[in-house]
Amino acid sequence: MSKGTFYITTPIYYPSSSLHIGHTYCTVAADAMARYKRMQGYEVMFLTGTDEHGQKIEEKARAAGVAPQEFVDRIVAGIKDLWKLMNVSYDRFIRTTDGYHVESVQRIFKAMYEKGDIYKGAYRGLYCTPCESFWTESQLRDGKCPDCGREVKYAEEEAYFFRASKYAARVRELLAAGELLEPASRVNEMINNFIDCEGGLQDLCVSRTSFTWGIPVDFDPGHVVYVWLDALFNYTTALGFLNGKYGDYEKFWPADVHFVGKEIVRFHAVYWPAFLMSMGMPLPKKIYGHGWLLLDGGKMSKSVGNVVDPAILAGRYGVDALRYFLLREFPFGSDGNFSNEALIARINADLANDLGNLLSRSTAMVEKYFGGALPPRPDAAGGEEELVLAARGLRDRYEALMEKYAFQQALQEVFRVISRANKYIDETAPWALARDEANRPRLAAVLYNLLETLRICGVLLSPFMPESCAEIKRRIGASDAAFTWDSAAVWGALGSGAQVAKGANIFPRLDMKKELEELEGLNPTRPAAPAEPAAPESAAEAPGPISLEEFKKADIRVARVLSCQRVPKADKLLLLELDAGGRTRRVVSGIAEWYRPEELTGKKLLMVYNLAPAKLRGIVSEGMILAASDGGAARVVFVDESIPAGSRLS
Ligand code: ME8
Repeated sequence: MSKGTFYITTPIYYPSSSLHIGHTYCTVAADAMARYKRMQGYEVMFLTGTDEHGQKIEEKARAAGVAPQEFVDRIVAGIKDLWKLMNVSYDRFIRTTDGYHVESVQRIFKAMYEKGDIYKGAYRGLYCTPCESFWTESQLRDGKCPDCGREVKYAEEEAYFFRASKYAARVRELLAAGELLEPASRVNEMINNFIDCEGGLQDLCVSRTSFTWGIPVDFDPGHVVYVWLDALFNYTTALGFLNGKYGDYEKFWPADVHFVGKEIVRFHAVYWPAFLMSMGMPLPKKIYGHGWLLLDGGKMSKSVGNVVDPAILAGRYGVDALRYFLLREFPFGSDGNFSNEALIARINADLANDLGNLLSRSTAMVEKYFGGALPPRPDAAGGEEELVLAARGLRDRYEALMEKYAFQQALQEVFRVISRANKYIDETAPWALARDEANRPRLAAVLYNLLETLRICGVLLSPFMPESCAEIKRRIGASDAAFTWDSAAVWGALGSGAQVAKGANIFPRLDMKKELEELEGLNPTRPAAPAEPAAPESAAEAPGPISLEEFKKADIRVARVLSCQRVPKADKLLLLELDAGGRTRRVVSGIAEWYRPEELTGKKLLMVYNLAPAKLRGIVSEGMILAASDGGAARVVFVDESIPAGSRLS
């Protein structure tokens, strides 16, 4: 029986380049929440997607030499691959270029216009192109854009405006009531900076004429809808609001929670409610403004280029370990400093030493002392031992924290019990009990208590580490019925006699020094000695024969060039973004003498996919493209369009 519905969203991300660990952080948090609610029995709608219009995307596509739609299509494919890799269980993925969304936004814009909440005027002001925002003189910080710190320029255009001022008092009241926005510390910032500021909440410019990559205002061609009005309504159009694509609006709106980064709280907590008020629609129940992952104290960002690639980390340490680290290490509402040291230390301490060890030790002892069959349930159903008491009350403590989106603390609670269980092994010394047949009932009780603790912890960790918890379930021999939300509140759900499967630690311990050294070579934030790529080998220097086995070690794949640009201050180098059927790979190649970027963009070529990454001019190159040369100009080996990207050469 469903407990009701639960609707959760992430921001829809800009497909301007591949996503990084910051986006992964928010999406993984939403995924953990969605899985937790499903486990509780809610009917969940978990929405994510991409925000594809606007001047920034139009410019990026132009630089890449392709049409905007083609440009975003390629990047969106990589984003979906990343979510698949990270085991993100979204129910729906919206793209703002989807026809049904475009249709709805046009209807919404018209409805607001007809109501008088959108009116035509002229905009004169200071414009920040990257942020697509007009600012007044008083809003600037040191004469620059208050959001991104870049130069602004004077601009003037005929535009439509949304009467935000009309809703200022209601929005203020709503924010001050304290229910809508969390963490609470962000409420005053919104009220003071945007509503109680000099001049009050200004009407918002909601159309543009200076570029065309947007949703056309259907009754006034030449205008496209401002990207934020277009984007915010995704949360309702994805349910079918004012379109025939879906019929879920009544069922799921208003959203239970929007997860957003703190820099876009303003759009979600001020303008979004005002837009909804204008449309007479219910308001979301909660907006949670999470903190940033910082690198060396600064925000990781695509435009700054100091980003950490989640696919590299998930590939090395496992998806679950990365998911766990992100949600255990950083308090969701505050900023946190990302570092490789913290990641490895966390995996070693919590996952290898505590959880992994507890599982392998407990199952190995059941194997050794009871032939792998689960010991009988103790008569007193666990008694009143401290471990049992801690594990019994765990689900309720966890639930209270999860309901507050306090992922870090919820995980802390679970791991407190796991540590307690490891201590319990030392205290009860099962190996000593095993020496005397008279202690057999006690030995059985001890092992039963350990497996039961693992069961409860495994259920509660499932939203965070789905695959690993399925493995815990298998190893302790739990039935489906003994691995549910309800069963996590019950002590003694494991039936005796089930087969336990022992095995190696599911989270092997990492060698900190070795890992840091290897990651150093992969981490784009740390400068390393620049190296020029080797010139293509000429036929004259051909090496001797190799075996087929040796040749097979090279993973050569067909890849499509998503974008290509020159590497600044390096005459010979081009930086290519390649789609090799999986996530986007960046490759630096020494062919700039012979090719212009636009000659390569969109083409299919061959790349060595498993070449160890190397750093060239501070950029990590993740592979090599194949080119042929007789000692003169290098010619890239292009392949037929009919061969899908990702195909392996053999
Ligand atoms: O703002 N740390 O898209 P976007 C933590 N399209 N989270 C981070 C982060 C970091 N360093 N960097 C990014 C947009 N994020 C709009 C949204 S919604 C109607 C439109 C996460 O691609 C964080 O959740 O710039 C942030 O709000 C979001 O990515 C911004 O993604």
